[in-house]
Amino acid sequence: MNRRNKRLLFQTVLIVILLTVFFFAIISYNLNYLSIILLIFMDVIIGLGIFKYNQRSQEVLRSEIYLQEKEKYLKELEALNTELKSQKDAYASLWEETAVLNTELYEKNKNISEQKQSIEALWEESNALNEELIQKNSELSILNDKIQLEKEKLIMINSIGEHMISSSDIDDVLLNIVNVTRIILDFQTVRILKYDSLDNCLELLTTIGYQRDVNKSFKIPLEKGISGYAGRNREIVLVNDVTKDDRYIHELDTTKAELAIPLLVEDELIGVLDLQNNQPFICRSEEDQILLKVLGSNIAMVLKNHQLGEQARQYFLDIVEALIGAIEVKDSYTSGHCERVKEIALEIGQLMKLDKQDLETLELAALLHDIGKIGMPEGILNKKGKLTKEEYELVKKHPLIGYAMLDGISSLQRINKIILQHHERVDGQGYPNKLKGNDMDILAKILAVADAIDAMTSVRSYRVIQSKEYVLEQLEICSGTQFDQKIASIAKIIVLKSIHEDKCKLNNSDVG
Ligand SMILES: [Fe+2]
Repeated sequence: MNRRNKRLLFQTVLIVILLTVFFFAIISYNLNYLSIILLIFMDVIIGLGIFKYNQRSQEVLRSEIYLQEKEKYLKELEALNTELKSQKDAYASLWEETAVLNTELYEKNKNISEQKQSIEALWEESNALNEELIQKNSELSILNDKIQLEKEKLIMINSIGEHMISSSDIDDVLLNIVNVTRIILDFQTVRILKYDSLDNCLELLTTIGYQRDVNKSFKIPLEKGISGYAGRNREIVLVNDVTKDDRYIHELDTTKAELAIPLLVEDELIGVLDLQNNQPFICRSEEDQILLKVLGSNIAMVLKNHQLGEQARQYFLDIVEALIGAIEVKDSYTSGHCERVKEIALEIGQLMKLDKQDLETLELAALLHDIGKIGMPEGILNKKGKLTKEEYELVKKHPLIGYAMLDGISSLQRINKIILQHHERVDGQGYPNKLKGNDMDILAKILAVADAIDAMTSVRSYRVIQSKEYVLEQLEICSGTQFDQKIASIAKIIVLKSIHEDKCKLNNSDVG
């Protein structure tokens, strides 16, 4: 019996006891045994009935409760089912969406995969192209360096011509050439040999790199040596082991290689560029051959131009000499005057450290300064005794006549200006234009001093030779008026030196 039934039994017994007490109370006055047994039987029956009833009621109640709970559970279950169904529907919908998304995702993945493959293929292609590009760039860079080097070499070769134009000193130009050549070709020794057609040999013009002094009269017969062979055959000769070449003329113990480049203008041999080195020269390409030819051609042009210039200068000097001869024929008193003035003027110019071009201009101006006397009457030029005022005025025109003679020759423009000014004075008292010092060309001032010195120390129709001491005195007196002060001071040094030399000569002759 469970706890619940025990409680029911207890309640039933309690009710029976109460009913029994109640009945006993009612029938207390007339009881017998049968009534008591009947009462007890009735109590039992009633108790059992109540117990059963209660038990039944409990079951019904439990059943109802169960049914209610069941119904409640069923409702909850139904709600849960509904919810589950709705969730299931939602899940189904989600599932469908997911499936669609999955399909899309799959497609996209597929596309991405394809694109990835395509990108990978492109990447590989790009890498290959990139490597090719790097290779090409590297080749281009090497080529560029090579072009740059060749360009620099060509610029240096070109500078030979530019240097020739800017410098009138051929020794300076030739030294620049051998220096540039040495840098371009990287040889130890470089020399330029000039072809002498009369002796059929190559003469040394200039050289660089020889440790010992080189004799300038060094000559190589054209039929000898590697340079002679190059000149004779008009071809570039490169010998990288001179010990195995019979043509080689031994000069330096260190020489292992010799390169000889003929210097040609068209087919005329001007000379040979000869280079020697203690290691082989590697002629790497056709460009090197062209470079050597261009170099040889440029040097040949420089030498040829110099030769032509020298020839032209010589022709000009011959003409000048002929003109001087014409003056001196007309004016017997000025015989040798122009030559002596030239010597004095050059001595002053050298002490003043004039450059080569100014010295050449001064030389020609000194030789030509009296050219205007060609236009003077011989009677006046050779007149014995003093000139009249009119005659002197006529003689004073010779700078103007000389100027007019050379006017229009552009190459003689400065020389002509000096000729015009050689009788001007720094104080403005000269002729023909009364120029003052600042307006005079410096070379005209030198020429004025040199002309005056020779005039004083040579025979003139109107006076005897003056002593050198007298010249010194005149230079002092006329310094700052007739003559430029600085030039007069330098001229005094020259005259003093001449006096000293004369004394030495006199002493020597006395001793003799
Ligand atoms: Fe003169």
